[in-house]
Amino acid sequence: MDEVDGRILARLRAGAWVSGAALGEELGLSRVAVGKRVAGLKRAGFDITAARRRGYHLVGEPDRLLPEVVQPRLTTARFGRTLRYLAECGSTNDEAAAWARAGAPEGAVVVAERQTAGRGRAGRAWFSPPGESLYCSLVLRPPVPPAAVPPLTLCAGIAIHEALGALGARPDLKWPNDVLLDGKKVCGILTEMSSDVERVHYVILGLGLNVNGRAFPAALADRATSLRLSRGPDAPPPARAAVLAEVLRRLEVWHDRFAAEGGAMVAREFAPRSSQLGRPVRVQLGDDVIAGVAAGLDTDGALLVARPSGATVRVIAGEVLLWD
Ligand code: BTN
Repeated sequence: MDEVDGRILARLRAGAWVSGAALGEELGLSRVAVGKRVAGLKRAGFDITAARRRGYHLVGEPDRLLPEVVQPRLTTARFGRTLRYLAECGSTNDEAAAWARAGAPEGAVVVAERQTAGRGRAGRAWFSPPGESLYCSLVLRPPVPPAAVPPLTLCAGIAIHEALGALGARPDLKWPNDVLLDGKKVCGILTEMSSDVERVHYVILGLGLNVNGRAFPAALADRATSLRLSRGPDAPPPARAAVLAEVLRRLEVWHDRFAAEGGAMVAREFAPRSSQLGRPVRVQLGDDVIAGVAAGLDTDGALLVARPSGATVRVIAGEVLLWD
């Protein structure tokens, strides 16, 4: 697909029927060339009908994350405006990191239909079957020192929480990097940074969001859900491109707020979106397990655990946390 295909799609989206002659004239193509282009779009999954004397009509778009499908839905200034679509890759985080090193602009996005080595935090694998979820990584270059970056993961959680809310769901945040629906994980965030002591080279913000999945492997079934499952069997499945556009919109807004206001804002905004704050918690700290109440977040993103003794323990992202 190329720019000419994109222009044909834009024209078809704008009008109920468009004649081959009008398309050809606007694009400087013969009617035969237009016919070939339309055949190519149909092969890519666009549902286009043709009728004599009326021309072409776009009936439906494929549920694929092609730039031609995603970008017309974007309302962002930067995020997703440069978008790389892969049918398959190891990990979109690795693809985005290689692209960042090669100079990808801030807000560049890699999406894949399927990952063969998708990964989560603490070396865990991320279940990445084809076609039903979002596997997406963004290149970010936040204008803050490396030590100030960790709350960005929490900030992304806030953005996704807001996006899912706008799509009619009722999400909940689980510190540090999970978004839940109905108490089960619907989205995980994996932030990876390249920096020297003083300067961030780039941050890769990877997110796996279960959109249309209907079944999970037995080991995940009681802990994972999808937007579709939480909507119930009668609701139409959300189009992944629409979900991605909404997520990118909110990520850009919250990223820019983070860049301007920093971690204190994140700590403030995370708390009311997480039902787990204020609740009892047990935290694994090395060989010890400490119990207390999840009291809130520190400005660097650490979880503050209030012990029965009155002392407060700071838990930094990356340590295992067991919620009671
Ligand atoms: C977690 O909850 O442990 C984080 C999961 C992050 C998964 C996403 S899927 C897209 C991106 N590529 C990866 O390999 N991981 C992240």
